[in-house]
Amino acid sequence: MRNSLRLAIIGDLHIAVARGENDRRLEIDPGRKLHGLSVELCERTIDDINAAPDIDAAVILGDLTRDSELFNHEVASRLIRRLNVPFYIVAGNHDLDRKRPESSRYPGVEVLDRNDFCDYYRGNGLPGASTRYVVPLPGDVTLIVMDSNLTLSELHSEGIEDSAQDDGFVLPDQLAWLEQILTHCRDSGQIPLVAIHHSVMDQSPAEEPNHALSRIFRYWQVHQAGRLRELCTTYGVRLVLSGHIHAQSVNLQGGIVNLVSSAAVSYPHAWRLLHIEDGTCAVESHCLSALPSIPNLQHSSREWMNDGMGVMIRERVSGIPLLAPLADKLTAMVEHSGWWPRFSDGTLSGFSVDNSLVPGAGGLNAVAIRQVVNMLDDYGRWKSERPDPNSLLLRLRD
Ligand SMILES: [Fe+2]
Ligand SMILES: [Fe+2]
Repeated sequence: MRNSLRLAIIGDLHIAVARGENDRRLEIDPGRKLHGLSVELCERTIDDINAAPDIDAAVILGDLTRDSELFNHEVASRLIRRLNVPFYIVAGNHDLDRKRPESSRYPGVEVLDRNDFCDYYRGNGLPGASTRYVVPLPGDVTLIVMDSNLTLSELHSEGIEDSAQDDGFVLPDQLAWLEQILTHCRDSGQIPLVAIHHSVMDQSPAEEPNHALSRIFRYWQVHQAGRLRELCTTYGVRLVLSGHIHAQSVNLQGGIVNLVSSAAVSYPHAWRLLHIEDGTCAVESHCLSALPSIPNLQHSSREWMNDGMGVMIRERVSGIPLLAPLADKLTAMVEHSGWWPRFSDGTLSGFSVDNSLVPGAGGLNAVAIRQVVNMLDDYGRWKSERPDPNSLLLRLRD
């Protein structure tokens, strides 16, 4: 019998089907989430995985739907059941009832919260009625699935504001649960493989404390990730899988690799294949090249993502008095540099802004522009010091 594991990793699906004609809710977050193509993208991802040889199981990294609407879960559930292998769902922040703006909600439509989600996917992605669970897999691997999300009522009882509803948390009871599982893995010689929706360490320089953008990105990584990492280091967890940030990314800390996988719904639409054998894990990435409706998916989606990020940057820069007059020029510079698509597809190593793209200016404007360029270049330096997130070879035990 083969003592190895071939595990497919599927990123955030964000399935969104139109409700009635001209459903503008699908256009929220344009470019960065291709809601209108979410069904096709999921179908193609599953077709690819079903066509790949000898896959043992699949992990779906959460955010199954746009905002946990029952009618979207009905489609997501139908789609993922097409997988030819057992599959395991990690709950994401969009798999719970959230306070969203009126323009984003569907009045009268049922939204699943955690208990409903557990009931709905039990036996169809969740082995039991819980979003934290353990699954024995081939290759002496134990998959440990955590839930880094809090429901609105849990947020309230923890004294946390609703504005943190998309942030990640690992409370003491979950750490105690994890420690129990990891103790068992250590005693039985199993390789622990942790999957959690939010990341567990920085995936960009902007998450470091005191960085000008740290507040914007605080929803990427679980709060108090240090305690989770300590536990993982102590018990020899070498690999933690995450989704959520919609990018191919990796970082290492305390002997742990946190491998973040892109969303199926977002450029570069990659799924991963982990091949674990003899204590080693080889990671491959497979980007969808085309959809029936979009023959050149990679090129088109990269452009849309760049445009979508441009809209967001223009909005934010326009709100900063010193930078507001430069909003158009700075947005054009960032778009032409390809910074965000390269962050998303994991090719930012070696990046720096081409001088020819930097708009000419004098006085304070020149200083402000230089600060933005430095911030972007810093991403290139930071990523250059880390492994290629698209193709890695890792040791999972000594
Ligand atoms: Fe997501
Ligand atoms: Fe998410």
